[in-house]
Amino acid sequence: MIPTLEVDKVRITFGGITAVDDVSFDLSGQELVALIGPNGAGKTALLNSISGIYRPSSGEVRLEGRSLNGVPVHKIATGGVGRAFQHAELFAGLTVVDNLMVGRHRQLKGSLLSMAVRVGPYLRREVAQRAVVEEVIDFFELEQVRNRPVSSLPFGVQKLVGVARALCMEPRVLLLDEPSSGLTRQEKEDFARFMLRIRHDRGLPMLWVEHDMQMVMDLAERIVVLDHGVKIADGAPDAVAENPAVRTAYLGVDDTEMTRAGSPG
Ligand SMILES: Nc1ncnc2c1ncn2[C@@H]1O[C@H](COP(=O)(O)OP(=O)(O)OP(=O)(O)O)[C@@H](O)[C@H]1O
Ligand SMILES: [Mg+2]
Repeated sequence: MIPTLEVDKVRITFGGITAVDDVSFDLSGQELVALIGPNGAGKTALLNSISGIYRPSSGEVRLEGRSLNGVPVHKIATGGVGRAFQHAELFAGLTVVDNLMVGRHRQLKGSLLSMAVRVGPYLRREVAQRAVVEEVIDFFELEQVRNRPVSSLPFGVQKLVGVARALCMEPRVLLLDEPSSGLTRQEKEDFARFMLRIRHDRGLPMLWVEHDMQMVMDLAERIVVLDHGVKIADGAPDAVAENPAVRTAYLGVDDTEMTRAGSPG
């Protein structure tokens, strides 16, 4: 079976810096995979290369077996790669519902006249787009705030709207960049509940960048670890947490020193 998303020896360089160094892994089914690593490890750069915002200098990303090399960013977004950004990147002055409609409008093709007067096939398509958005509003329990400008909402809700907007594109895979950063413990718990529901109801594989290790250990089925652009581990949470290279890189502790310091006598 072809994996939903394949990251195949992807390398990203900026001038002399290698931000992502021949990284490979794939995602299938409804896997919830956490992508972790210290600040500057290359997590966002890797997500950007999957979304087409950055182009790999070598390697390839494939969605359901098809190469995304050279595919324009908007086609990647409408073609199956949903993305919620590290900084929600919503239109702050627009309402929740308008933010959710923004992405869908790309799929509303029609003549200028039919758009202006909203008739015929254009109107039918708009109704269909609305239906997708309404379902997502329902799913994320955003009914109460649908007509509020995003800027007036608590940060936790704004982050949720960012994920909701990605889901409105009916993706085949969902990329989440630090969705829980800046959230309170309660908001994080709410968020975790939605992640589990996305998995359960939509059956989507998710690649989830996260710094909150407690959340990662609670929710992720698999963890991929980057350090200085290199993949240093990929596996079940327990195995990854005990991996000496991960402990050294991610926690900034040398395992042998930790053992020595902790040993009696
Ligand atoms: N557009 C860019 N131009 C130049 N260098 C960049 C660019 N984007 C990222 N980098 C560099 O690539 C490396 C990886 O950055 P990246 O943002 O992917 O890290 P990250 O793992 O997402 O970190 P954080 O946890 O802080 O979000 C860093 O050294 C960064 O300075
Ligand atoms: Mg980042």
